[in-house]
Amino acid sequence: MIIVGGPASNNIDLEIARIMNIPQITLEYKTFPDGESYIRYPVEKVKLSKETVVIVQSLYPPQDKHFLELLLAISTAKDLGAEEVVAVVPYLAYARQDKRFRAGEAISVNVILKSIEFAGADRFITIDIHKEESLKVLSIPYKNLTAMKELAKYLAERNYENPVILAPDRGAISLAKDIANILNTEYDYIIKVRDKITGEVRAEAKTLDIKDKTVIIVDDIISTGGTMALAARCSLASGAKTVVAVCTHALLVGNALDRLRESGVSDIIATNSVPSPVSKVSVASVVAEYLQSII
Ligand code: R5P
Repeated sequence: MIIVGGPASNNIDLEIARIMNIPQITLEYKTFPDGESYIRYPVEKVKLSKETVVIVQSLYPPQDKHFLELLLAISTAKDLGAEEVVAVVPYLAYARQDKRFRAGEAISVNVILKSIEFAGADRFITIDIHKEESLKVLSIPYKNLTAMKELAKYLAERNYENPVILAPDRGAISLAKDIANILNTEYDYIIKVRDKITGEVRAEAKTLDIKDKTVIIVDDIISTGGTMALAARCSLASGAKTVVAVCTHALLVGNALDRLRESGVSDIIATNSVPSPVSKVSVASVVAEYLQSII
């Protein structure tokens, strides 16, 4: 098995190779003056022929470019004789466009996944995909790993006082449950409630009393920070003592960090599936452990 670091591996490939004690190579890459992407395997260093080649390439912004580089890397590994190509994509971009919200829209996640398979991937691995059901479009073996155990370990070391875990909506409840089970705390999700008299919409924990608690809000993605900021504000309005924001993929678009801080969040913790100032937890061990189990 050889681990290959793509241009958007965020060094996760290096860590996986170190943990597993197996060879690693880094793809050469550049952008031509007209904007086209180029990748090259340093074949003078290692032969791919008859090897299982594990390509690590996350799809953080610029996601279209990183996606194309991934397809080039997969297809070229096959051309160079790899026996099996495993695509490790810690953050799968486009996963939120998983249905036609409006007639005529592209179901982008299907196109992305099918293209990865068409390029020659024999196996697909990702982490905390927006919806696991999206992977069913693949006909190759796939695995959606979760970073919740690693994030929970990090949170446990912080020794927060009276922690409870909240999902900002029902869709993220399984993430909240995973962390709560490890930390042995209660969990809940936030619902939007409309005041019958004023018509005003507010958000609150569905059943849990969060007064004087450290509320740890968990989501798969923080993009603009809007969802998390709303959840933080409503937690504080419901009496939470402190709010900590946790996610797997911290895209942090534009002024998301300021937005979160202004909403009262005191700490933000994410994984390195996307590089960011709050990417404090590595997903490498989760991937390495899984690769070890399929060797
Ligand atoms: C939505 O269903 C996702 O799980 C996230 O809650 C959402 O994508 C976060 O986006 P933003 O940070 O822009 O609110």
